[in-house]
Amino acid sequence: MNISQYFPKEEFVQRCVFITGGNSGINLGIAKCYAAVGAKVAICGRDEDKLDRAKSELEALGAKTHAVVADVRDFDAMQDACDEIQIALGKISDLVCGAAGNFLCPANEMSANAFRTVVDIDLMGSFNASRAAFEQLKETKGNVLMVSAGQAYMPYSHQVHAGAAKAGVEMLAKNLALEWGKFGIRVNSVVPGPIEGTEGVKRLTNEKQKQMLLQSIPLKRLGQAEEIGQVAVFLSSKMAAYITGAQVICDGGMNLAGSALFNMGVNQAGKSSG
Ligand code: COA
Repeated sequence: MNISQYFPKEEFVQRCVFITGGNSGINLGIAKCYAAVGAKVAICGRDEDKLDRAKSELEALGAKTHAVVADVRDFDAMQDACDEIQIALGKISDLVCGAAGNFLCPANEMSANAFRTVVDIDLMGSFNASRAAFEQLKETKGNVLMVSAGQAYMPYSHQVHAGAAKAGVEMLAKNLALEWGKFGIRVNSVVPGPIEGTEGVKRLTNEKQKQMLLQSIPLKRLGQAEEIGQVAVFLSSKMAAYITGAQVICDGGMNLAGSALFNMGVNQAGKSSG
């Protein structure tokens, strides 16, 4: 699908979208959708090589792009990244808090540091990026999108860290929507299902688990990164001007079916993480 046909070019051409973790997977898919509608795109991540590759892919789509090496766990690094992006591309109009970390691990074997690491990346990282971008978003009357997960409201085996972190991300989105509405800033979340070819699916599923997972998805297929990007672009468009504090689930119906098949797959496969 060519997303650009659904949005007038003039709507996004002045916009500067900052996507944390935008160097791969779902977040790169989101970045590509914004590039396709003509937005300027900034990305950050920890791996310079991955960032460079993603930047080239985005530039090949015609997007003015800026890439910053920064860890979302470090507030000062996020503030510096936001300041740098403003100089390179203009004020941030849309922030996508996408950076996340995950692996499979039973709760009784997980170290406190492992639990904290995922909470730090997912939850603290989303707060840090939002807080650092706030002044620019206030001026642009911008949007924030939190990339959440089904684990936020459905318990999944070996996912206690991700579940706790993403549940926090959901409330972060709602609280910011409540407080920042008066500044003209909208804040929403998207819940992606399992997306083809992503690090998340590679880390969380072996072939046996993948088959069980497919059985549990009402639409009987994995999602595409672009399908999450389409949600992101819609939510930051004028078509969604009165939507804030919403959670948009884009998972092929997977979480309607619960996590039982996933849990069975994980337990049969034993502890197998990335
Ligand atoms: N099982 C159990 N514990 C694990 C683990 C695994 N597969 N991977 C890491 N940990 C633990 C480490 O042992 C460490 O705890 P310890 O100090 O008690 O030993 C803690 O988690 C931090 O690991 P470290 O590798 O130092 O952290 P990091 O900041 O370099 O990496 C991760 C962060 C762990 C989330 C890493 O998986 C990552 O960078 N992921 C990014 C990509 C990703 O996860 N994408 C999927 C998105 S859905």
